[in-house]
Amino acid sequence: MTKKRIGILTSGGDCAGLNAAIRAVVNAASLKGWEVYGIKNGTDGLTEKPYAYEVLTVQNFSDTPWPRLSGSYLGSLNKGVKMESLDEMSKRFGEGVKALGLDAVIVVGGDGSMNICSNYCKGAGIKMVGIPKTIDGDTPITEFSIGFNSAVQVCTTAADDLNYTARSHSRALIMEVMGRDAGHLAMHSAIAGNADVCLVPEIPYTIDGVIKKLKEVKASGRNHAVIVVSEGIKTEDGSHLSNKKNLVGEAVYGGIGQYLCAEISSRYKDFQVRVTTLGHIQRSGTPTAFDRLIATLFGAKAVELLDKGETNRMVAWKDGKVETFPIEEVVADGTMLLNTNSDFVKAAAAVGMYVGEIEK
Ligand code: F6P
Repeated sequence: MTKKRIGILTSGGDCAGLNAAIRAVVNAASLKGWEVYGIKNGTDGLTEKPYAYEVLTVQNFSDTPWPRLSGSYLGSLNKGVKMESLDEMSKRFGEGVKALGLDAVIVVGGDGSMNICSNYCKGAGIKMVGIPKTIDGDTPITEFSIGFNSAVQVCTTAADDLNYTARSHSRALIMEVMGRDAGHLAMHSAIAGNADVCLVPEIPYTIDGVIKKLKEVKASGRNHAVIVVSEGIKTEDGSHLSNKKNLVGEAVYGGIGQYLCAEISSRYKDFQVRVTTLGHIQRSGTPTAFDRLIATLFGAKAVELLDKGETNRMVAWKDGKVETFPIEEVVADGTMLLNTNSDFVKAAAAVGMYVGEIEK
C-alpha cells in the first residue's frame, strides 16, 4: 500500500450532504495511512495564491456535528469559467497541485464542475475522481447526486406549508424553485407536495392551461391552490428571466414566479395570487438520511478507486448500487434534463396536476 496525499474540494453551488462526503473520504483515506488536504473555496484554493488548504484528519469530523450539517466545511465556488481562460486556469491548477504535492484530487461537484475540473486535470496531467452533488439533479449517468434528496425535502415542506396559508386566504400560491434548466427538483417536490400545477423547462406550457387548472380547482369546491414553478422556464413568448449574473457573466435565473403571478392575475380574478421564491434555502437544511448515505458510499468508493489506481472516473448511483464511469462519458452527456416521458411526469399528470402541454 503506497502512502498518498490526496486533495478534496467542493465545487459549484453547495448543498446538503457535502460534509458527509468529505468525512467519508477523510476517514477512508486515513485508514489507509494517506494524507488528505482539504482545498478551500472550490478550485480557488489551488488556482489563487496563497494556496488555501487545511490538512484534514478524522478529528475534524469526529465528535463534531459536521457530517450532519449542510454547507461545505471547505467552502465552495459557483462562478463558472470562461472557455478562453481554460488553458491558463488548467496551468494554475496544475501548479497548485504540484506545490501541495498532491497525488490526486477528488472533486465533489455537479455537471459544470465535472466539466471544468476534468479539463483542468486533463490539461495538467492530474488524476481526478469525481463525486456527484447537485440540488438540480442534472448530473448525467448517476440516478442520484448528493444534495438532491435534501433539496426535494426542503421544497416539499415549503409546499406543504404554503397549502395552509393558501387555504386561509383563498389564494393560489406560486412557489419558484431552483434547478436551472432541469425540472427534476420542481417535479419531485410538486408530486410529493401535492401541487396543482408544476411547470418545468422541459415541457411547454400556456398561461391559459394554468388558469384552466385553477378553474377546475375552484369548481371542485377547493378555495386554494399551489403552483410549483422551476426557475428555468421561459415566459410564454420564449424568454428566460434572470435577475443577476454570476462571476463570469452567465445569467442566474430568477423572477419567473413574479411574471406568472402578473399574467395569471391579469387574466383570472377568482384567486388572489402570490409568489414565494425559495432561493438558497433549498441548498441548506439538515441533510436527509439518503443524502448522508450516498455521500458516505460515494466517498468510500472514491478512495477505493484511488487505491486501485483507477482515476478520471466519477462515482455514480446506478441501479441501486455504486458504480463508476469515465468522467469524459459524464461530461459528454451534458446536462441531464427531466425525461418528459418519465414515470414522474406521467404520475403527476395521472393524479390531475397540470404539467404543461403534454400528449395525453
Ligand atoms: O446549481 C445549483 C444552483 O442552486 C441552481 O439551482 C441555481 O440556479 C444556481 O445554483 C444559483 O446560483 P448562485 O448560487 O450563484 O446564486
